[in-house]
Amino acid sequence: MASTSVSIHGMWSSRLMFILAATGSAVGVGNIWMFPYMVGVNGGSAFVLAYLICIAVIGVPVMMAEVLVGREGRQSPINNLISLAERSRLSPHWRVLGWMGALTGILILSFYGVISGWAMSYVVSTLSGDMNGVDASQVTGMFESFTGNVTQVMVWQGAFMIATIFIVARGVGDGLEMAVKYLMPALFILIIALLAYAATTDHFAEGFRFLFQFNAAELTSESILAAMGMAFFTLSLGMGTMIAYGAYMPPDANILSTVGLIAALDTLVALMMGMVIFPLVFANGLEVSAGPALMFITLPLAFGHMDGGQLFGGIFFLLVTFAALTSSISMIEPAVAWVVERFEFTRAVAAIVVGGIAWLIGLGSAFSSNIWSDLKILGDRSFFDSVVFLTSNILLPLGGLIFAIFAGWLLNREIISGQLEMSGPSLKVWSFLIRYIAPMAIFVVFVMALR
Ligand code: TRP
Repeated sequence: MASTSVSIHGMWSSRLMFILAATGSAVGVGNIWMFPYMVGVNGGSAFVLAYLICIAVIGVPVMMAEVLVGREGRQSPINNLISLAERSRLSPHWRVLGWMGALTGILILSFYGVISGWAMSYVVSTLSGDMNGVDASQVTGMFESFTGNVTQVMVWQGAFMIATIFIVARGVGDGLEMAVKYLMPALFILIIALLAYAATTDHFAEGFRFLFQFNAAELTSESILAAMGMAFFTLSLGMGTMIAYGAYMPPDANILSTVGLIAALDTLVALMMGMVIFPLVFANGLEVSAGPALMFITLPLAFGHMDGGQLFGGIFFLLVTFAALTSSISMIEPAVAWVVERFEFTRAVAAIVVGGIAWLIGLGSAFSSNIWSDLKILGDRSFFDSVVFLTSNILLPLGGLIFAIFAGWLLNREIISGQLEMSGPSLKVWSFLIRYIAPMAIFVVFVMALR
């Protein structure tokens, strides 16, 4: 029997709402901005293949485990780990994994707020017509002068952080559900429209080949690590977001089919964005390995030259902003739910405290493209790049590894079979993936890349 209880934090009103909320969390700046640039700097199709494999054999089973732990416990990830550990006769110290996750979420939001702030500012610069008819060097110059301006970057980061805190403070209820319900389909439609535009450039086939023509020579251990980190990041795994969202999931929804759908939608958006961006990169003679600037250069260029591009571009960046918001709220939900449970703060206070910490840390990332551009933290990485690397390449896979061991080997089997409602071969496949494949793959990739 699946759990029938409810969470004190609220509940999604239906399975569909859970799907939209979880897809809203999964689909974000990670798909639209980070995936294409990661493909570019990691050599193209080999990275894509590694990414798809990681989604299927690590991402889906781990997401199922997170959702089941969430729905069984109905509390914050930290308290769920404590209570499920107790019911499985394990140490309460499993809570440390929950803490690590909550902290990782705060670190992710810290840089995510900066990037999302950039996207927000592009709503204005596109709509105002500043991008009309620009060429590649002008658009690059505009991007550099924007990110080089510390005040501008801070103002937009602040606006995004306030919006995030505001929504989280209002809770799981209708506001978020309504937003997700209309904005996600709208985002899909716009991406399809962009795809149609990219298909009219003569470089569509070249972009397609770059993404899908497999070349084993490009597969390095660093790029496999990056693909695995990207898989965790894009599915919002490894830090408890899906545990928190699972806690508000209706009891009767099937976990396998629901998670499968979320992963498929998320992957589709990432691949479509790749097919939008790379043809434009080739058509305009840009560098595939432009890194974080990629989306902020290719897309304004395309908008600047298409009919109605001013309005279309403005709407697109607005939707990127909303996609980012439906993700950013999920990064601090684990910590906020825990603060509410632990200190009995109101949601509003908890959201301000947790979001405020993320904001402060994020200033370091906001400064990375201007006053701190010479600062190097991990290796030759800027503050911003260091936080991205630490979270998506280290903390998320590590959290996923430890969590897979918890769910696969230690968690009470009755809890698992009650929640998953799977039996026979499908349960065996899941168990095999979560017990052996996911932990071993994560471990091997770590050792290869970090040795
Ligand atoms: N998945 C989101 C994206 O692709 C980002 C995100 C939301 C996330 N919640 C998360 C990443 C939790 C890691 C962990 O943009």
